[in-house]
Amino acid sequence: MGTRKVAVITGANGGLGYSIACRLLDTIPPSVPLTIVITARYLRKAVETIKRLLAYAPERDLISFDYVLLDLASVSSIDEVASQLLSRYTHIDYFFCNAGGGDFTGIDWAAAFVEVISSPKDSVTHPHFKRERTGRISRDSLGWVFQINVFANYFLLKRISALLSGGGRVILITSIETEIAHKFDPEDIQLIHSDQPYVDSKKNLELMHSAVAKRWAEEFGVLTYITHPGICQTSIFAEYLNWLSTFGMLCLFYIARWLGSPWHVVSPYNGALAPVWAAVDADPEADPVDGVVYASACDRWGRCYVKRTQYATEEDRKNGTILVQELDKLLEDSLERIKLDRT
Ligand SMILES: NC(=O)c1ccc[n+]([C@@H]2O[C@H](COP(=O)([O-])OP(=O)(O)OC[C@H]3O[C@@H](n4cnc5c(N)ncnc54)[C@H](OP(=O)(O)O)[C@@H]3O)[C@@H](O)[C@H]2O)c1
Repeated sequence: MGTRKVAVITGANGGLGYSIACRLLDTIPPSVPLTIVITARYLRKAVETIKRLLAYAPERDLISFDYVLLDLASVSSIDEVASQLLSRYTHIDYFFCNAGGGDFTGIDWAAAFVEVISSPKDSVTHPHFKRERTGRISRDSLGWVFQINVFANYFLLKRISALLSGGGRVILITSIETEIAHKFDPEDIQLIHSDQPYVDSKKNLELMHSAVAKRWAEEFGVLTYITHPGICQTSIFAEYLNWLSTFGMLCLFYIARWLGSPWHVVSPYNGALAPVWAAVDADPEADPVDGVVYASACDRWGRCYVKRTQYATEEDRKNGTILVQELDKLLEDSLERIKLDRT
């Protein structure tokens, strides 16, 4: 029996997060003791997720589940989660920063029609028709989307760095959609003025990674991989789709795959391939953490594989440094505020 592995998956009640947990159970041999810590926003969802995971691997003995309730849009919640993890565990082997989302408002149907007709593959790879709200601010007075997709991850990872140092692996989740992100704007790091804060926040996550991955590996022995799940059907945009548009979207995913898109892996279980591979199987010598996104991809027949794409240009690295300086400032301010609120 080996030493117990501890995996934390944020947002494990959702499509990709839940599939990451299933895929971990399928990848780590049953002879290895494993604890999976899930986070969800609400107790009911945490309990349901653990029940589903227990049912997924009923014969596995050396497994335990734990949960913490996390709201990424609240720095005090993030801080509380960090304290709970620090008090319950002595190390974390795999930390999946999966939870996240956008402030979507719907679909621009006219634009969707034109995009689908003119380029079916591109319309479901780099869609311009998903509408996002501009300017949403969190209770912590930060750009809301920036907070949940970028700052919250940075905050949490910095707070629990002691649990990860000396071999822990962090898995960040970006998106193929960063190919249509706006240019980094140092005047709007929190993306309050962006008309596509979700897409731009995922680009910011890549910039953050470009600035920290090498440093964290050298200074703390923490391997921070950035991955994306390809394009899969989850509930991230589901509230704007009815059964007909969901069916149409799925058909377009398969058409895109047939037209040669490697990114339409469709199921979240397929999407979880690259994140779980990076955590468990990537070889740091052959698979560097720096400058590469490891993505879930598939061929026309749906056979999945991990595809590497290069991402960090010199400009990305410079922008990443500016971003991380801002994240450090925000972190300091937030910790100060939390301290004041508690006194
Ligand atoms: N689906 C794709 O094709 C795709 C492509 C590229 C990247 N991604 C990324 O994959 C990750 C998982 O998304 P998904 O597609 O699986 O979507 P999903 O089914 O909507 O799952 C998102 C998860 O994040 C949680 N979450 C959202 N806002 C949160 C907050 N403020 N605090 C704490 N948890 C929060 C959700 O919790 P609730 O259930 O409480 O809302 C849910 O557990 C995201 O980072 C997304 O950007 C997905």
